[in-house]
Amino acid sequence: MCGIVGYIGKQDATQLMVNALRRLEYRGYDSAGVASIHADSLKVHKRAGKVADLEKLLRKNPGKGSIGIGHTRWATHGNPNDLNAHPHTDNSGEIALVHNGIIENYQSLRKKLLEEGYVLHSETDTEVLTVFIRSIYDKINDLAEAVRLALAEAQGAFGIAVISTLEPDKIIAARRGSPLLVGIGDSEYIVASDATAIIQHTRQVLYLNDNEMAIVTSEGYVAKTIDNEAIDSKIHNLEFDLERIERGGFDHFMLKEIYEQPSTFRDAFRGRLLPQDGQARLGGLIPVVEKLRRAPRIILAACGTSWHAALVGEYMIEMLARVPVEVEFASEFRYRNPVLNKEDVVFAISQSGETADTLAAVREAKLKGATVLGIVNVVGSSIARETEAGVFIHAGPEIGVASTKAFTSQIGVLALIALFLGRMQHLSQRDGVAIAMALKQIPEQIQYILDRSEAIKTIAHKFKDARNFMYLGRSFNFPVALEGALKLKEISYIHAEGYQAAEMKHGPLALIDEHMPVVFIATQDEIYDKVISNIEVVRARNGSVIAIANEGDSRIAELAEHVIYIPNTIPMLTPILTALPLQLLAYYIALERGCDVDMPRNLAKSVTVE
Ligand code: M6R
Repeated sequence: MCGIVGYIGKQDATQLMVNALRRLEYRGYDSAGVASIHADSLKVHKRAGKVADLEKLLRKNPGKGSIGIGHTRWATHGNPNDLNAHPHTDNSGEIALVHNGIIENYQSLRKKLLEEGYVLHSETDTEVLTVFIRSIYDKINDLAEAVRLALAEAQGAFGIAVISTLEPDKIIAARRGSPLLVGIGDSEYIVASDATAIIQHTRQVLYLNDNEMAIVTSEGYVAKTIDNEAIDSKIHNLEFDLERIERGGFDHFMLKEIYEQPSTFRDAFRGRLLPQDGQARLGGLIPVVEKLRRAPRIILAACGTSWHAALVGEYMIEMLARVPVEVEFASEFRYRNPVLNKEDVVFAISQSGETADTLAAVREAKLKGATVLGIVNVVGSSIARETEAGVFIHAGPEIGVASTKAFTSQIGVLALIALFLGRMQHLSQRDGVAIAMALKQIPEQIQYILDRSEAIKTIAHKFKDARNFMYLGRSFNFPVALEGALKLKEISYIHAEGYQAAEMKHGPLALIDEHMPVVFIATQDEIYDKVISNIEVVRARNGSVIAIANEGDSRIAELAEHVIYIPNTIPMLTPILTALPLQLLAYYIALERGCDVDMPRNLAKSVTVE
């Protein structure tokens, strides 16, 4: 939520920041702005809308200077208008600040500042923080110290960057709860919310941890804690290429990411699958192997799509390892005071590794003494760093707000974990080999589905004006029904419900009529016949049935209006294949409706606020 950037060096700061903001735009796109310092004067350009709107403004009135800060906003406090857009300035227009997060005590700070005679123009917590910094600066004449003291009093979450004509040779960056890093170039430095904004310029980064700040000049930086303690700042090397964050000829990142799945899925198990032994080798779990072996219970905590992957993980781990698994909404976890024992193992699942609720669940579980592990995509992210050990999913940068390739890779990694745990418990080598062999075939099977996407386009065209959709599945494919509905909702704005197919008769059946398209995931497993009966029930109420079924299933074609076929695999791996047509269906319906697929309204890629 919100992307921030800051630049100090020799280049034109505004141009560089606008390019960086384009890369960060997936984090929020309600407004965009930049501030730069040139000839002792601070200029701010900002406006509601996307980075493209800011660029129009800058074409008429370009920014100047080689130091600046920029922001792309996902609104929390105040409407997404020009006034509330960042950067915010103090009353004299000498200090500018960009912010990702929420200052929770901004109301009391606001009151205090108004009493002291400061003026506040916007509705934002960020302007309050900026003016608060100014009020401290007025007493001590030291910008970094004023920022530090203000942040020590601020409650809530922040990633900030500050510049000022009062001390025009530095950027002050700080974080608590919102991600922030400093890219280290040759006499130039870029502060950014994530690595996508800096990879074009440097691979060397310093990740700031919570309660840390950096004072960055064109000569170098000093990093310390907000409590003024020195820190050991380790430089990391970024390990992904620029092409991975480009659209690469696809119309949208989402489509590119859907089509990347044969290779991203392969990357999830590369070097980790031992087919002859029917085993998985997960280096990231070696330090906690004994804890895993003894764990009486496994808890999977996540949000959104990652939570759906966790549900599939629950079924897989319980089936193979016979260990009880509980799936928790990370957003509920800390508020309901969950029962946690020291022997329990908690896996936090997150594509971004920055989701505030999931990070808070990690901290809560650690506090209670559980072993907390991560299943994360972004290396260097907060969850990756705060968990004791874990497994990266290696899906590469996911830019489209609708998560696609991360979902299938998360399930792939959860399958490996289930296999790993299963083989430590009761799973035979023979059964392990069957699972490993099936996993190896998945990338080609994904490609098979992608090569047949034309049929899905036709279905999308037919149902593009539907006002509601129902997605039904059972067993391993119940979470896929939830995920299919989420994909459609978030990018096409059609109301969709995912439901357990058998539960439908306990209420939602009342919704079925000739206007309700119903997507059934009806793969051939032990409950296939039951799902067929569920389809009959819907047909009897004139619902239009779209079925996802196995290649060679002739029975289903007689029942469903449309059938999308997937290759055969073992039941526990079907969610990986059934998710694909549903991602494509959502994508093509959104396209038909003229929706902004990569930047759906009201959403942002990583939700770093509660
Ligand atoms: O980065 P995370 O996996 O922690 O994100 C969790 C959710 O915010 C995310 O999956 C969200 O639901 C997606 N937009 C769904 O497509």
